[in-house]
Amino acid sequence: MPRPRPPQKMPKALDAALKAAGAAAVVEPPPAFELHIRPLLRSLDREQMDFAFNLWHYPDVDPIGRFTLILNRLKSPAADVVMPPPYSGGPWPAEWIALFERWLAAGAPRLPLAQLDPASLTAARIAGTSLVRLTAMANLPSAGHVAWIERRFAEEVPFSPERADEFVLYERLVTASPAAVTPTPVEDVLELPTGVATVKFFGANGTFPVAVT
Ligand code: HEM
Repeated sequence: MPRPRPPQKMPKALDAALKAAGAAAVVEPPPAFELHIRPLLRSLDREQMDFAFNLWHYPDVDPIGRFTLILNRLKSPAADVVMPPPYSGGPWPAEWIALFERWLAAGAPRLPLAQLDPASLTAARIAGTSLVRLTAMANLPSAGHVAWIERRFAEEVPFSPERADEFVLYERLVTASPAAVTPTPVEDVLELPTGVATVKFFGANGTFPVAVT
């Protein structure tokens, strides 16, 4: 059976705000760790650097200090200092280093989790498939924000960090919108191994187990 088409994800309020304000109103928020930086770090990088720190884990203490140390290595002109080392795929292309630098200059932001309405969460197996339809209502800071569901990346787990049964809702500002905030429906169809009876949703207000129907 072919995979169903992904649902239309543009919330109505955002669509209206974008049309009213025109393309110029689309804002470009700074890069975010989970969206633009962590995906640049390979499993090999994470593993080899484990003697010093977990490269996939955003540090709880002094993140700017850690990421400044990292930037200095990424940018180093010395072949025996630059990271990743030239003998294992390094150094990064200049565009990646510029992105990292821009992200750090913006204060090394993370991608915020969305506030979830726990009563709204559902996970419905699409019969006879390895797919599940996940739905949630998110309370976003403004009508100019979007939220989406993706598989949780468990940064503490070295080799298979993408959890089969855990999903996270992120939010992101897309356009400055004066429109009133209303709960925003968020939905997607994602893979879930057959036989899994419960999934977990991760949001800003907590982690919520939900039975698969
Ligand atoms: C983007 C990927 C990487 C980043 C951001 C990175 C970053 C760093 C940093 C910040 C240090 C200094 C640690 C300290 O002073 O406490 C370091 C040291 C080191 N890294 Fe990496 N690393 C990366 C990938 C790798 C890989 C793939 C390897 C091995 C194949 C590696 C091997 C080493 C070694 C052996 C040292 C210690 C020797 C030295 O100080 O030059 N790194 N790395």
